[in-house]
Amino acid sequence: MACQRGLALITGGCGGLGMAFARSWLQRGGSVRLADMVSQKKGDEACQQLGGNTTFVSCDVTDKEQLGEAFANAEDLSLVINNAGIVAHDGADLFENWEPMIGINVDGVVNGTRLALETFEGQKPIEDGTSRVILNVGSMAGLIPTTVMPVYTATKYAVVGFTRAMHVAASKRYDPSIKKNVPTGIRVHAVCPSFADTGMVNADTLAKDPRNKRTVELFGGLLTPDFVSEAAFEKCVDDPAARAILRVTPVDGVKFDEPGAHPVEKAVRNNAIRADPWGTLRKIMGSK
Ligand SMILES: NC(=O)c1ccc[n+]([C@@H]2O[C@H](COP(=O)([O-])OP(=O)(O)OC[C@H]3O[C@@H](n4cnc5c(N)ncnc54)[C@H](O)[C@@H]3O)[C@@H](O)[C@H]2O)c1
Repeated sequence: MACQRGLALITGGCGGLGMAFARSWLQRGGSVRLADMVSQKKGDEACQQLGGNTTFVSCDVTDKEQLGEAFANAEDLSLVINNAGIVAHDGADLFENWEPMIGINVDGVVNGTRLALETFEGQKPIEDGTSRVILNVGSMAGLIPTTVMPVYTATKYAVVGFTRAMHVAASKRYDPSIKKNVPTGIRVHAVCPSFADTGMVNADTLAKDPRNKRTVELFGGLLTPDFVSEAAFEKCVDDPAARAILRVTPVDGVKFDEPGAHPVEKAVRNNAIRADPWGTLRKIMGSK
């Protein structure tokens, strides 16, 4: 069943995509906590703009204590969107902002996921077949290297890899009393949009570097944040059968990323490698 309609905690919730995610969730009847490092005034304005049951908590996702506090008293937490992220704009300096970028885009997502799972664990087990969801915000730069932004690319590859592993790891828990894995009802997904019209990417930022403009054109232009958000909600949050990674681009539409092209990856996915590791590897390598 779809995600429970409780509280959604959205990091970077006061930005372009964050506000769109909040709108989608409010439309579905949930409540929203925006966790962002903007000023209290901007946070309050965002809440006012969104209306509904929305609150703001001031939080820098790289500060473990602050992020922990953002999760406090979230008894009815159903959805966590690890969305806060930054990019480098100066194509001339390939290492611009590399440390904060890794801190926000990677550490923030890993710690947000850890805290989400910890909070879910403290809640009543799901008994009505619904699910609780963690949605990480990746990027097409996490699936196709963006050569003008190598560190941003690295952070988004990290989000995609982490999410692929967590999609499986968080879905089950080992129960020693029956010596079996049991389903948790927790789903972890990542949405990977191409360029979307937000504070991060817009006509002004694109005007600064013609290479970025060309890349945007290659993907079919700018997405609207609401389009990205609705795609992520319809295909991931609302759908229990959703796969791990959702790509959203104007040129190719909304599609789950299909991994498994490499024979080792296929073998891992279909469990062949677990059943017969050496036999499977020998077959892949073409040796006897
Ligand atoms: N806009 C795009 O083209 C695009 C494409 C693919 C992926 N993304 C990803 O989408 C996510 C949201 O980006 P956006 O386009 O809405 O950008 P944005 O700049 O409009 O919003 C980002 C928000 O994150 C907040 N933020 C930044 N650092 C933070 C921190 N340390 N702690 C808490 N909040 C912080 C900002 O205050 C801002 O409100 C990012 O992860 C980004 O990498 C964006």
